[in-house]
Amino acid sequence: MPAPLHSALLAPSLLAGRHTHLAASAIEVANAGAPWLHLDIMDGHFVPNLTFGPQMIAELRREVPSLFFDVHLMLDEPQRYAETFIQAGAQLVSFHIEPSLDHRALLARIRTLGCQNGLVLNPGTPAEAVEPFLHEVDLILVMTVQPGFGGQPFRRDMLAKLARLDALRRERHLNFRLEVDGGIDPTTGRECRTAGADTFVAGTSFFKSPDRAAFVREVAAW
Ligand code: DX5
Ligand code: ZN
Repeated sequence: MPAPLHSALLAPSLLAGRHTHLAASAIEVANAGAPWLHLDIMDGHFVPNLTFGPQMIAELRREVPSLFFDVHLMLDEPQRYAETFIQAGAQLVSFHIEPSLDHRALLARIRTLGCQNGLVLNPGTPAEAVEPFLHEVDLILVMTVQPGFGGQPFRRDMLAKLARLDALRRERHLNFRLEVDGGIDPTTGRECRTAGADTFVAGTSFFKSPDRAAFVREVAAW
């Protein structure tokens, strides 16, 4: 197995936090020592669920200024909202490859606005769909569940996709992060690490963990 390109980091997902006390949940993430906070934005169209919007991001930004805000847009029209989320404090904005839009233009615009960008693939979308964009991204997010809800079982059949994207990254001497999201826990996360992932979203397993700080430290050693 080739040496990993990036050290492993945990991005706890606020979706599994307490929605009546999201600031408290975000502070728990910071107190556990996690470097990133993963924020799931859903529009009820691209996915059959709703979460929160830019005002929530802006207010959370003030509560936890040390966390890197990894904003995952599950929207049919991410181009309409990306800028608002960046103004609200997103440091990375990822959006899906599946809706039809000018992906290249949006990737460029996110960077122009001083933010990192990312492209996301649903489980049914092959790696080939993002291959033309790999030299234009800061992160590729491979969904390891169908997006929309936390607490779903990990899709082991996504490991081959991860390995393919990691191989392309090495062949092309690229440096983007390779993130996984859905059903990640210490067992499935390590499997993803072996397949090439370096950035691990964890909702349910993080918030249920009896020792969250230990979980964060463990991931850094994967
Ligand atoms: C699912 C979201 C995930 C979700 C993962 O649509 O994109 O970020 O929070 O939750 P777990 O870790 O519980 O599978
Ligand atoms: Zn997500």
